[in-house]
Amino acid sequence: MNTLLEDAQAAGASVGLTADRITINGGKPLVGRIELKGAKNLVTKAMVASLLGETPSELRSVPEISDVRVVKGLLEVHGVKVSSVGADTLMLDPSNVESAHFEVIDAYAGSSRIPILFCGPLLHRLGEAFIPDLGGCRIGDRPIDFHLESLRRFGAVVDKQPQGIRLTAPNGLKGAKIELAYPSVGATEQVLLTAVRAEGTTELRGAAVEPEIMDLINILQKMGAIISVDTDRVIRIEGVERLEGYKHTALFDRNEAASWAAAALATNGDIFVGGARQSEMLTFLNVFRKVGGAFEIQDDGIRFFHPGGKLKPVIIETDVHPGFMTDWQQPLVVALTKAEGVSIVHETVYEQRFGFTDALVDMGAQIQLHRECLGGAECRFGQRNFNHSAVIVGPTELHAADVVVPDLRGGFSHLIAALSADGASTVSNVGIIARGYENFIEKLRALGADFVLEA
Ligand code: EPZ
Repeated sequence: MNTLLEDAQAAGASVGLTADRITINGGKPLVGRIELKGAKNLVTKAMVASLLGETPSELRSVPEISDVRVVKGLLEVHGVKVSSVGADTLMLDPSNVESAHFEVIDAYAGSSRIPILFCGPLLHRLGEAFIPDLGGCRIGDRPIDFHLESLRRFGAVVDKQPQGIRLTAPNGLKGAKIELAYPSVGATEQVLLTAVRAEGTTELRGAAVEPEIMDLINILQKMGAIISVDTDRVIRIEGVERLEGYKHTALFDRNEAASWAAAALATNGDIFVGGARQSEMLTFLNVFRKVGGAFEIQDDGIRFFHPGGKLKPVIIETDVHPGFMTDWQQPLVVALTKAEGVSIVHETVYEQRFGFTDALVDMGAQIQLHRECLGGAECRFGQRNFNHSAVIVGPTELHAADVVVPDLRGGFSHLIAALSADGASTVSNVGIIARGYENFIEKLRALGADFVLEA
């Protein structure tokens, strides 16, 4: 596996960011307007879905982020022609899909977890698939057992080899009854991308129902799939013999929206996030208001601002949708260091998503991590010795420090901390942030941040 620095450099370079470090003169409010594009966690899957069509697909509102580059590379290795039309539209033509050389796939997989989602589409198209060692943010063990078990239920044969996992489907793929032990986003997508072309009906119980999954279902329906979603996490898919390409504008990136909202709050700022919508962010907006943040919902976006006065502590438990997303917790924790009183964040989705708090403590925050499930119900990690609850005592004034980005959302929270701290902080490995935040350097500039980039 690559080092964090190698991952950061590769991710940054792929979108033209040559700097590894940013020195921020903090203590100034971020004020201005930024525009969102499509959600990283939908766009990358939508690109994979194009493999299922017999005709080209057109995906709009694609952000310029390195995870998109990684998936583009993987699709091209398999013979999909990916071309850009205008600023943010991709044409994906799968007419010449063919088997790819394993070693090339490995080089392209980079630090992404998306390759696992190629399994179903490749098994349908080619009868085989090869999945290299998976990357992604270092925020927990991140097993793929649900994925592999689901694929076996469809009839795939899974062969674990030293270089990766080889899959074949000697008797084709058939609809199956599948129940997930936990509503995993990726495993739900795996089932969807496999079931739509499997013979017969698939019933998935315990499915994740994140808005990005609903948008993937929208795309698959446009392609000709038959999918129904019940209110109790049950998804039924009737397999069809043929799917066409799609034309689709990707759902906005609500994780990016929440990140800028947290940045506005922590820096006493005022940011209009163009493209953000209320309905996919209800849970975030409730918490934002409880902490003391203010927002105004417009037709073309949401204005997030610090209305003055003191911030208030909250108790949050991260959860699958419609709960408070795990990806929102890291940026918001910075604002919680400024709230008056004791906040608790119980992370129930990933067992190790508080690594980023060490840097905040170095900057003067008072944050203690606990193994116990604090502030809510017992979760899967309760008896397993993971520091997955954080107690944040505020208010604290953050002071400048040199910090190293540990993962995507943790990295953004470090940026926010540096922006809100007095003095000059250096944030290293910023390329990691380019995995999921389009043009974040330009956006910081547009919002009036005072910083210098260093190679
Ligand atoms: C997706 O990850 C997102 N990534 C994550 O965003 C996001 O935090 C997460 O969903 C939850 O919303 C992408 O969409 C590319 P999961 P995914 O499968 O699909 C366990 C970001 O910062 N699990 O829902 O990998 C797993 O260990 C990233 O944008 C198994 O045990 O997440 C975790 O504890 C980070 N076995 C839980 O389920 C499996 O086979 C949820 O994971 C699969 C998952």
